[in-house]
Amino acid sequence: MPRTPVNVTVTGAAGQIGYALLFRIASGHLLGPDTPVRLRLLEITPALSAAEGTAMELDDCAFPLLSGIDISDDPNVAFDGANVALLVGARPRTKGMERGDLLEANGGIFKPQGKAINDHAADDVKVLVVGNPANTNALIARAAAPDVPAERFTAMTRLDHNRALSQLSKKTGVPVSEIRRLTIWGNHSATQYPDIFHAEVAGKNAAEAVADEQWLANEFIPTVAKRGAAIIEARGASSAASAANAAIDHVHTWVNGTPDGDWTSMAVPSDGSYGVPEGLISSFPVTTAGGEYRIVQGLDVNEFSRTRIDASVTELTEEREAVRALGLI
Ligand code: NAD
Ligand code: LMR
Repeated sequence: MPRTPVNVTVTGAAGQIGYALLFRIASGHLLGPDTPVRLRLLEITPALSAAEGTAMELDDCAFPLLSGIDISDDPNVAFDGANVALLVGARPRTKGMERGDLLEANGGIFKPQGKAINDHAADDVKVLVVGNPANTNALIARAAAPDVPAERFTAMTRLDHNRALSQLSKKTGVPVSEIRRLTIWGNHSATQYPDIFHAEVAGKNAAEAVADEQWLANEFIPTVAKRGAAIIEARGASSAASAANAAIDHVHTWVNGTPDGDWTSMAVPSDGSYGVPEGLISSFPVTTAGGEYRIVQGLDVNEFSRTRIDASVTELTEEREAVRALGLI
């Protein structure tokens, strides 16, 4: 018997991440080779034609798992029945825009989208916010969706996690498949903290294997934290295929579980763990099983890590204060 298709809503579908993401969702990389999907694409009115062009290309791939594509500029339509919601479309920072202006502009997007998810999405909806500032956009959407369990709203730090894996692999010469338990803490911004103190490379503690605090503080952490800006500088556009890949990884892991003995990084509403104020959407080490995630408990946080986690969490607290002052949460 064919299974009922899972409704996957993607916002910003005509953008560059959307173009790298949709074909992989339709070919089964998001939910697996046995799960049919129906794509529900949300775009702003001027970009509907471009979204239709992408839908034509999706049709032309004849993906066996793709059961249909709907396109709309109305969040109430696009989130109707959504089981998975990928909130990619966002307002980029433009010249002369202050941080407050950016938060306000994105509030105008994520507040109505949160409400539409609240009113129309499926009971089991899982939300991933990719559009920047991702953590705080997720906070805004979650606040507008009081009937949806708060823990279903997450933001993406999996790209940062994958970047950290790759940098550590290069430094140690150990393949990424033999690196476990890396953590990204905090905000998806330059204040994020990629933590290798609990990580293992080929079964050995990563910090001990590297034994190079200079590299850790002055190369590894800034390279990972500023990678997004380095890609914009080199490409003239922000990361797209790697961001789409990380979005696939995030949802795939959430749905299918983390391997035994490993964890991943997700920005999720804090329950107060590790001193992160409750309700902030901050990145933590998480394990997943049965479609749910749990923040890994009981890790020792040394002085080096504490200072850096606190700095990123302070930034998130300030963002929360700013959107509160704007009446967005
Ligand atoms: P893009 O400008 O190519 O595409 C964004 C799309 O969103 C556009 O097609 C636009 O029309 C659409 N859009 C704008 N407002 C919308 C709305 N209200 N509803 C639906 N669609 C809307 O941008 P991109 O390169 O695809 O990046 C998208 C976002 O992802 C940006 O905010 C970017 O900074 C962010 N990003 C996050 C990460 C991460 O790791 N969290 C990584 C890379 C990029
Ligand atoms: C990234 O990490 O690549 C992006 O979040 C950068 C950006 O500002 O879009």
